[in-house]
Amino acid sequence: MAKSRTQFICQNCGTVHTRWAGKCDACGEWNTLVEEGSNSGIGAGPGSLRSSRKGRIVALTTLSGEIEEAPRISTGIGELDRATGGGFVRGSAILIGGDPGIGKSTLLTQAAAELARKGYRIVYVSGEEAVAQIRLRAQRLHAADTSVELAAETNVEDILATISEGKRPDLVILDSIQTLWTDLADSAPGTVTQVRASAQAMIRYAKSTGCAIVLVGHVTKDGQIAGPRVVEHMVDGVLYFEGEGGHHYRILRTVKNRFGPTDEIGVFEMSDKGLREVSNPSELFLGERSAKSPGAAVFAGIEGTRPVLVEIQALVAPSPLGTPRRAVVGWDNSRLSMILAVLEAHCGVRFATHDVYLNVAGGYRISEPAADLAVAAALVSSLTGLALPADCVYFGEISLSGAIRPVAHAQQRLKEAEKLGFAQAVMPRTSEDVGKGSGARSAQLSELADLVVRIAGRRKPQSDEE
Ligand code: TYD
Ligand code: MG
Repeated sequence: MAKSRTQFICQNCGTVHTRWAGKCDACGEWNTLVEEGSNSGIGAGPGSLRSSRKGRIVALTTLSGEIEEAPRISTGIGELDRATGGGFVRGSAILIGGDPGIGKSTLLTQAAAELARKGYRIVYVSGEEAVAQIRLRAQRLHAADTSVELAAETNVEDILATISEGKRPDLVILDSIQTLWTDLADSAPGTVTQVRASAQAMIRYAKSTGCAIVLVGHVTKDGQIAGPRVVEHMVDGVLYFEGEGGHHYRILRTVKNRFGPTDEIGVFEMSDKGLREVSNPSELFLGERSAKSPGAAVFAGIEGTRPVLVEIQALVAPSPLGTPRRAVVGWDNSRLSMILAVLEAHCGVRFATHDVYLNVAGGYRISEPAADLAVAAALVSSLTGLALPADCVYFGEISLSGAIRPVAHAQQRLKEAEKLGFAQAVMPRTSEDVGKGSGARSAQLSELADLVVRIAGRRKPQSDEE
């Protein structure tokens, strides 16, 4: 018989250590090592119990063949369907991660209610809240009158026995993965071993029955899904539900999708009656704009297949400090340093004695390099105190040599800008046919210095006194 041995598993990255240490060598996190039995977890696997078993012959099959039913279950909540690539796929498992309190349970309750109204069998298993609490939320969301089946349960075997009875459910929601535990592993709930073993059991159920599974996972402060991060590779899709504190907007971002695109976002607004879809996010992000003040530039971005217009705000102020401050919200810090360096080196615009603050309006986060040009415009505008034209959008990538590089989907960006009443655009030289409207009145620049001249006038601003 195998000797029972203990091992220490990092709860952050899942690395197995043979002895305890204060810090995990693999991910550098402190106090994350937890003792777990080795003959129970995934590492040992069910195989260790029956190693003398002879392999069973599995029937091989072809790629073509009958697929029984519509492979996707569409919720009818447009923004959710967009993020999942057209709805939940039968037999698949997806993980929805997000900070506690961001609205994961709310979103899934609403989705469950919509699907139940369409006649699907939906089971909602909550390990965090009591039935009464979930009912209360459902009443607020006007979802109480639907046929969603509810259970407050955390044991995987019990859940599997429950949902295997009667007609197979179309969708099972498990809220959250951190609370699940299985008899197969003897670690505490929430540990890596339990989370993995429970997820694996549920995923196996999904694959074998064709029922879709949604796992909810909480994220730690540094943005990583605690524990559930280790199931990211097992599931078919990973969605993050994000939002800035103090803002009502929530963004559902796809980071992994085996059945669809991964760069889509769904935008929601949290209201007193639950999450409301925002099908035109640009209007939302531009809502509170004051066009007259210097330092604000509108960026025409693309999220997945959809254009999104957002305002980028910069504040450049004389600094009393030896090392001036650079603070960024909603954009990449090192990217800002790069733009500042290019402006100094190639355009003679000096920021060395100034604090620079950059903010993306509405709690939105930009990851596209195409925002470079809008950031540069906002910075120069704030430094010179000259407001940018209110009806102009900016997009383009800036290279270290000071050149403005073309970006994809110029036409789509211009179309969205035009739709929202922007008559001009400042953009890279492009071979795409930009057509009429804001495209016709666009300035196609190839050097960053041209942008500075455009904003600050003929003379290049040489110093802070501009
Ligand atoms: P919840 O879905 O419980 O978050 P999670 O499951 O991600 O932890 O959402 C909780 C927050 O949402 C809470 O702060 C209250 C807010 N909320 C509303 O503003 N309106 C509503 O209709 C509901 C149901 C929740
Ligand atoms: Mg919840």
